[in-house]
Amino acid sequence: MEKISPIDSRGRGLKARFWLIACLAIVIQPLQADQPGKAAIASAHYLATEAGHEVLAKGGNAFDAAVAVSSVLAVVEQTSSGIGGGAFWLLHRASDGFEVMIDGREMAPAAAHKDMYLNEDGSVNRDLALNGPMAAAIPGEIAGLEHLAVNYGRLPLAESLKPAIRIAREGFPVYTKFHGMLTYKEKTIRRWPAATQAFLPNGKVPEMGEIIKLPDLASVLEKVAAQGRDGFYKGEVAQRLVDGVRAAGGNWTMQDMAGYTVKERAPVRTSYGGYDLVTASPPSSGGIAIAEILNIIEPYKVASLGKVQRTHLIVEAMRRAYRDRALYLGDPDFYPVPQARLTDANYAAGLRAGIMFDRATPSDMLPGRENLPDGTDTTHFSVMDAEGNMVAATLTVNTVFGSSFMVPGTGFVLNNEMDDFSAKPGEPNAFGLIGFTANEIQPFKRPLSSMSPTLMLGNDKAAAIGTPGGSRIITMVLLGILDFMDGNEPESWVALPRYHHQYLPDKIFAEEDAFTADEVAALEAMGHTVEVRSRSWGNMHGVMWNRKTGEVTAGSDPRSDAGRAIVR
Ligand code: GLY
Repeated sequence: MEKISPIDSRGRGLKARFWLIACLAIVIQPLQADQPGKAAIASAHYLATEAGHEVLAKGGNAFDAAVAVSSVLAVVEQTSSGIGGGAFWLLHRASDGFEVMIDGREMAPAAAHKDMYLNEDGSVNRDLALNGPMAAAIPGEIAGLEHLAVNYGRLPLAESLKPAIRIAREGFPVYTKFHGMLTYKEKTIRRWPAATQAFLPNGKVPEMGEIIKLPDLASVLEKVAAQGRDGFYKGEVAQRLVDGVRAAGGNWTMQDMAGYTVKERAPVRTSYGGYDLVTASPPSSGGIAIAEILNIIEPYKVASLGKVQRTHLIVEAMRRAYRDRALYLGDPDFYPVPQARLTDANYAAGLRAGIMFDRATPSDMLPGRENLPDGTDTTHFSVMDAEGNMVAATLTVNTVFGSSFMVPGTGFVLNNEMDDFSAKPGEPNAFGLIGFTANEIQPFKRPLSSMSPTLMLGNDKAAAIGTPGGSRIITMVLLGILDFMDGNEPESWVALPRYHHQYLPDKIFAEEDAFTADEVAALEAMGHTVEVRSRSWGNMHGVMWNRKTGEVTAGSDPRSDAGRAIVR
């Protein structure tokens, strides 16, 4: 064995120390530089965005901020989400690159069965499926928030819930969207006394700027702050909910409440344009559909194509992915979703082979039949903290104000997520949805969702994106991803004029400024039907960190007046 002289030894010791310091410098340097240094939050309401920053300022991370943003949205934006509903939170942890989707989706109660919305003559009772307690599945949001705080956050759940509790007690001013949606749903809300008292305080739709206080909701959130999920799924609150639901004709039990479980799901992963995409997994259809569309269009190099040709090929890919959504997607715990096949490049190549460059494929020529809903209501927010942790979260009560049903003494509406199941095979739901076995109603099953929170990760950029909008969520996120790939910033993704194709009805829906008259004519000459809608859709919120420039940016959809993107 070689002997080391004292001099050699000292020399080697010095050298070793030099290399140690050099290596440490190399290791530490990128760690210090490899962080955004600033936090970005974009959500559908300025109070929620501010609450997220408030929690970050107290030492919380992006996951604590997500708890704060979610819970404030559950107070101020019950049109779209709430503790009576559910959510998917897609997480990226900067320290080790770990990614996971927290599935807080609602779950059918034990008494649910596939014919539960059928009248005696076999027709579907649309009112039962959409309005009142029978439309509500067991909520998942509170269980998801506790899971986030306990497993990923740095602050106690109670700390991150503080802004929501404060705002529920002190109130928030009525804003444009809230006012509009209350006016739209007033008649349904009036059917339920507790909801009427909460949202129509003087017996009428409140004026813009009038303060809405929800002290019962504050009390429920305080119970959760003190007891965690047990403050909601067990004991007094659970008993109140079960009694209230049953008294109004619903079918929940205390076992349903106590049995609600959060699931950690491996996200769907794909790549496009040199970026890794991490997106929602079943029971969302979003990630699989986005991966399928991107796989189909990748060889076309759509960025280099003219607008009409680009739109035609993207629409043909949308058509095929939505057909597959209809036929093959449901809760993976109940139905063998062929995820590997649907997201495989070879499968996409087979679908691509049937696409004509100059002609639309009529949807009727594809095997299988499906019809999907118009945009419904839901909400999305994106968070990045100064360390680079990210959350893309999409939360929902399904349609506007969910079931509109509120159990007295609770201050929050229950979802009508049961309508995301197919009530009867082959029969359209309120939004035109025809479902099949994959998404039929079963006890404890989670209804198929379109919510598509997505992360885009590359050497030069990291970003989070998502939006509400029912079946259109998937195509909106897709167009946002493509805009990101074109090198644009969040402000551009969220403002982009939108178009959408969902297999059936066999038409391209377009926002007014999506196409010029000439572009519409050119698409129609290829065999497409283009329906230009006067009402826009979606409410997209995204954040991005450009590692090369060090810039952190965020964008809030200009279609909403309450949304806010703040980098701080
Ligand atoms: N309820 C809307 C969705 O989950 O897609």
